[in-house]
Amino acid sequence: MKIKATGPLTVAEYMKEVLTNPIKGYYMHHDMLGEHGDFITSPEISQVFGELIGVWCISEWMSGGKSKSLKLVELGPGKGSLMDDILRVFSQFQHLLNSCDISVHLVEVSPKLSEIQATKLTGSIIETKYDDDSSAYKNGVTKCGLPISWYHDVQDVPEGYTFFIAHEFFDALPIHKLQKTSDGWREMLIDIDPEIPHKLRFVLGSSNSILATLIQADEQRDHVELSPNAAVIIQKLASQINTFGGAALIADYGHSGDKTDTFRGFRAHRLHNVLVDPGTADLTADVDFSFLKSMIGNTVASLGPITQQDFLKNMGIDLRMKVFLI
Ligand SMILES: C[S@@+](CC[C@H](N)C(=O)[O-])C[C@H]1O[C@@H](n2cnc3c(N)ncnc32)[C@H](O)[C@@H]1O
Repeated sequence: MKIKATGPLTVAEYMKEVLTNPIKGYYMHHDMLGEHGDFITSPEISQVFGELIGVWCISEWMSGGKSKSLKLVELGPGKGSLMDDILRVFSQFQHLLNSCDISVHLVEVSPKLSEIQATKLTGSIIETKYDDDSSAYKNGVTKCGLPISWYHDVQDVPEGYTFFIAHEFFDALPIHKLQKTSDGWREMLIDIDPEIPHKLRFVLGSSNSILATLIQADEQRDHVELSPNAAVIIQKLASQINTFGGAALIADYGHSGDKTDTFRGFRAHRLHNVLVDPGTADLTADVDFSFLKSMIGNTVASLGPITQQDFLKNMGIDLRMKVFLI
């Protein structure tokens, strides 16, 4: 184990190792979504969720001046259900969109989930490419005839007028945990308990002055969770939207800079101790939307957060559900 070899890990290093290690990472080689998995998400519960996001994309595209080309980028697409539902709405609005050159781009780190996405969205298995020349590791054509590509990192996605969609993606990104002490902010680390072999425990590390610069001077909490990874990604989205146009929709469990310890695990739909049997449970931390907003400053306009219920109501979920009931 890495801790034995190199010493205590930051929580961010631990999350990265547990979730996305290429060999043993939780996300990499199995399907954890759904009734028989560890957790379920809105797109897996109802097609209406993705359909309404499809409506949001089309309404943004229209109010943004009907750009001649549109990249639809999803971060962490899971089983591909959300994108499938969005694309079905796009097909229904073909008469509006036929002058627009649309392409689909999925940012997915998991080989297993990318296979499931390819089967769902293209109807076929797509081989993974291992050459270094292309930023995309899979390319294909969706069932509705749009070009689709897969990337490991959002930095690799080609630029242009883009709608970015991220549903339960930011909460899977590694966080650092910082504790306020009489000596200033110190980072929580994960170490092996010297009393009990194989048992992990949290310990207080030394001060981390670089991370501490990300904490607001007037911070009232004595414990904060910070994701520099999330900061880099949100800044990429903002700078691309600023340069080429488009929008981003980020839906997640989150807060506005008022929660403290939200780091938790889920296994078989139950809360699971994050330090027990790493790699067998999902690890997640609520997204700090105020942090994301502070990281983009005035690069682009940002709205929200609002509750998922309000968003879906604004997009017409009540009307859509009535159609189901008739
Ligand atoms: C909690 S699942 C959500 C899946 C889907 N959006 C949904 O709502 O059903 C997180 C998704 O993000 C992917 N993921 C996690 N960390 C990632 C990373 N660092 N880069 C790219 N994808 C990542 C996972 O493989 C998975 O597809």
